[in-house]
Amino acid sequence: EKLFVPHTDSEVHGSSIRPRKGVIIGAGQVGMACAYSLLIQDCFDELILQDIQSDRAEGEVMDLRHGVPLINPTDVKAGTVADVGRDADIIIITAGANQKPGETRLDLVERNVKIFKNLIADIVQYCPNAILLIVTNPVDIMTYVSLKLSGFPSSRVIGSGTVLDTARFRTLLAAKLDIDPRSVHAYIIGEHGDSEVAVWSKVNISGMYLCDGGWEGSPSAEDPQLQELFWQVKNAAYEIIQRKGYTSYAIGLAVTEIVKAILRSQERIFTVSSIVNGLYGIDEVCLSLPRVVNERGILKTVNLTLSDTERQQLTHSAKVLREVFDNLTL
Ligand code: 2OP
Repeated sequence: EKLFVPHTDSEVHGSSIRPRKGVIIGAGQVGMACAYSLLIQDCFDELILQDIQSDRAEGEVMDLRHGVPLINPTDVKAGTVADVGRDADIIIITAGANQKPGETRLDLVERNVKIFKNLIADIVQYCPNAILLIVTNPVDIMTYVSLKLSGFPSSRVIGSGTVLDTARFRTLLAAKLDIDPRSVHAYIIGEHGDSEVAVWSKVNISGMYLCDGGWEGSPSAEDPQLQELFWQVKNAAYEIIQRKGYTSYAIGLAVTEIVKAILRSQERIFTVSSIVNGLYGIDEVCLSLPRVVNERGILKTVNLTLSDTERQQLTHSAKVLREVFDNLTL
């Protein structure tokens, strides 16, 4: 006797619903923090890990797969965009060299551009409709490089940008104000790196502005304690790398939130990195601004009113990044 009998016409009259397929390129610390977080939050139906060391990806997949019966049924596989990853919906790129203690994110450019040339060529060929989520540092430069190399519309080339810095900023503000970080509204914009900008003029809880808010204890943006807090945000990665060698968990969670906003078309606002052309007098630079993300990728950018100081700082950040782009040969 057979265990199953076929449901006669399902083979012929399938529906158009497709499993949601994601690929993570780079199975290092960041790639795996993304994979683990995506898996336990039930984001994709199929998740493919691609790594230049294929046995590394295979080992990670075996380890993750053994946990699948304990959570949700994501089909985790090792492979590449050219085989099992073909026609993926979202491709998360974390591959590349990472910072050694003391190195800046911008020190990594040359090494990572080389790696991206091959990766993006394969993506264009095998996953022409995918949304790219770039995580590799320096993320603003790598987002720009991916945009230019792929020829994809800019809505579909998203850099994780300062989503992590914004989370760090909210974490520290929340601790200072003794409020849940989800109720602290604050943004870090510009470069994900040394020239990033804290938008002090917009930091608020329940519409009460922190700086020059007029309420008791409301400080000015130049307050030394606030400057110290921003220093901690900006230097968080250096501090962590000095101690544990890399950063991973928080970026994994940040990537997961961006992925959910895409897959569930949430129109949620994130400070993701993308090309700026025209806003604030900035042209042809990828950097972070608050942007609305849905199933098409980046839908629009918030036209944030900035203080004069913030505007100058953003212009400076754009200039720092522009100089790196200008020295790049693609
Ligand atoms: C971070 O900010 C290193 O860009 C990475 O944690």
